[in-house]
Amino acid sequence: MYVCLCTGVTDREIREAAENGVSSMRQLGKELGVGRQCGRCACTAREILRESRSSD
Ligand code: FES
Repeated sequence: MYVCLCTGVTDREIREAAENGVSSMRQLGKELGVGRQCGRCACTAREILRESRSSD
Protein backbone atom coordinates (compact mmCIF):
# COMPACT_ATOMS: atom_id res chain seq x y z
CA MET A 1 0.00 0.00 0.00
CA TYR A 2 1.30 3.43 -0.88
CA VAL A 3 1.50 5.72 2.09
CA CYS A 4 3.18 8.70 0.51
CA LEU A 5 1.91 9.28 -3.01
CA CYS A 6 4.18 12.25 -3.61
CA THR A 7 7.27 10.08 -3.28
CA GLY A 8 5.73 6.64 -3.96
CA VAL A 9 6.75 5.23 -0.58
CA THR A 10 4.90 2.17 0.72
CA ASP A 11 4.07 1.03 4.27
CA ARG A 12 6.58 -1.75 3.78
CA GLU A 13 9.38 0.68 3.06
CA ILE A 14 8.48 2.64 6.18
CA ARG A 15 8.57 -0.55 8.27
CA GLU A 16 11.94 -1.43 6.77
CA ALA A 17 13.24 2.03 7.60
CA ALA A 18 11.98 1.59 11.17
CA GLU A 19 13.84 -1.73 11.41
CA ASN A 20 16.94 0.06 10.26
CA GLY A 21 16.71 2.54 13.08
CA VAL A 22 14.48 5.34 11.79
CA SER A 23 12.46 6.44 14.78
CA SER A 24 10.98 9.82 13.95
CA MET A 25 9.09 11.53 11.15
CA ARG A 26 11.98 13.92 10.74
CA GLN A 27 14.34 11.02 10.09
CA LEU A 28 11.83 9.33 7.82
CA GLY A 29 11.55 12.52 5.78
CA LYS A 30 15.30 12.66 5.50
CA GLU A 31 15.68 9.00 4.51
CA LEU A 32 12.67 8.50 2.24
CA GLY A 33 11.24 11.95 1.62
CA VAL A 34 7.96 10.98 3.30
CA GLY A 35 5.82 13.94 4.35
CA ARG A 36 8.00 16.57 2.79
CA GLN A 37 5.67 17.64 0.02
CA CYS A 38 1.90 17.84 0.58
CA GLY A 39 2.14 16.35 4.08
CA ARG A 40 -1.06 14.31 3.69
CA CYS A 41 0.75 11.07 4.47
CA ALA A 42 2.17 12.31 7.78
CA CYS A 43 -0.55 10.86 10.01
CA THR A 44 -0.45 7.41 8.44
CA ALA A 45 3.32 7.37 8.24
CA ARG A 46 3.63 8.30 11.91
CA GLU A 47 1.19 5.56 12.84
CA ILE A 48 3.12 2.91 10.88
CA LEU A 49 6.36 4.08 12.43
CA ARG A 50 4.85 3.85 15.90
CA GLU A 51 3.42 0.37 15.24
CA SER A 52 6.67 -0.99 13.93
CA ARG A 53 8.56 0.37 16.91
CA SER A 54 6.20 -1.18 19.42
CA SER A 55 6.44 -4.57 17.72
CA ASP A 56 10.16 -5.07 18.21
FE1 FES B 1 3.47 12.23 1.34
FE2 FES B 1 2.39 14.08 -0.17
S1 FES B 1 1.68 12.07 0.19
S2 FES B 1 4.12 14.25 1.09
